[in-house]
Amino acid sequence: MAEYTVLVMAEVEPYRTILPMIEQKCRVVRWRPDDDAWRGELADVDGIYVYAHIKISPELMDSIPKLKVISNFGVGCDHVDLAAAKERGIPVGNTPNVLDGATADITFALLLAGARNIVTGDHFARGPDFLEYDPSFMLGQEVHHQTLGIVGMGNIGYQVARRAMGFDMKILYHNRKPSPRAEEVGARYVALEELLAESDFVALNMPLTDETKGMIGARELGLMKESAVLVNAARGGVIDHDALLETMRVGKLHCAALDVTEPEPLPRNHPLLELDNIIVIPHLGSATEQTRQAMSSRSVENLLAGLAGEELLSRIV
Ligand code: DGY
Repeated sequence: MAEYTVLVMAEVEPYRTILPMIEQKCRVVRWRPDDDAWRGELADVDGIYVYAHIKISPELMDSIPKLKVISNFGVGCDHVDLAAAKERGIPVGNTPNVLDGATADITFALLLAGARNIVTGDHFARGPDFLEYDPSFMLGQEVHHQTLGIVGMGNIGYQVARRAMGFDMKILYHNRKPSPRAEEVGARYVALEELLAESDFVALNMPLTDETKGMIGARELGLMKESAVLVNAARGGVIDHDALLETMRVGKLHCAALDVTEPEPLPRNHPLLELDNIIVIPHLGSATEQTRQAMSSRSVENLLAGLAGEELLSRIV
């Protein structure tokens, strides 16, 4: 007989090793968005495992009397009411560190793709109009020796800066407060306004919080260089998407390269999806085989530790 009961909250099937690992010790109750049967099981539930950003409200926490832990697959926990969990003394586990490298890699991939017209170039090279090589065509922006502004110098921002060093970039950053590690990568702390005005590339790598929601709006986009590339590998909600649409419609930036959007996914007929100066990928920041495996192990370890009343390996509150 299983020791614990876990409510697995996932709209899609969780990554392949997750359920077998949980099921070794726990009975799984599957949350469903369109069927309330799981609600009848809540009296037995000891822990929540959340996959792919399903919202966890204070009401849900209060309807699970034995709730000992919430374990999130991923580092960003903006979909969990962290203040409510803290107030109730429920630890929330997440997966920092194991995904820093992969997320920094995708930030850089988007930066390079935006600068050098990789996506539009690919479409063109496959299409009917590529009949002769034209050296004056599709000129991009140089990356090496340019200025990169990183918003959010946490673990991922730091890894982005390390990659930028290899490209001989000048690095500026903005954060809630200066980071002691920034010196190691030669990054200079500046106000957001200065970062936006001075940078050739702006990488958003901060968490989504009350302070960062809509942080990049019309005023901020207006401060950026027309040749700049904006990369968002954080959360869609840090950018005001109406302002972004207006900016990109008139070609005010060279490119906006987005791993994340608000909402996510964008409605299929969203006007941003029609623009050539936008790159959008489907939230692939940590999507490598190696990182998914590490995230799976870490999040299940957090879950099992919380169920046993032990300290979690990584805990956000
Ligand atoms: C994260 O770790 O926050 C990623 O966005 C996946 O959820």
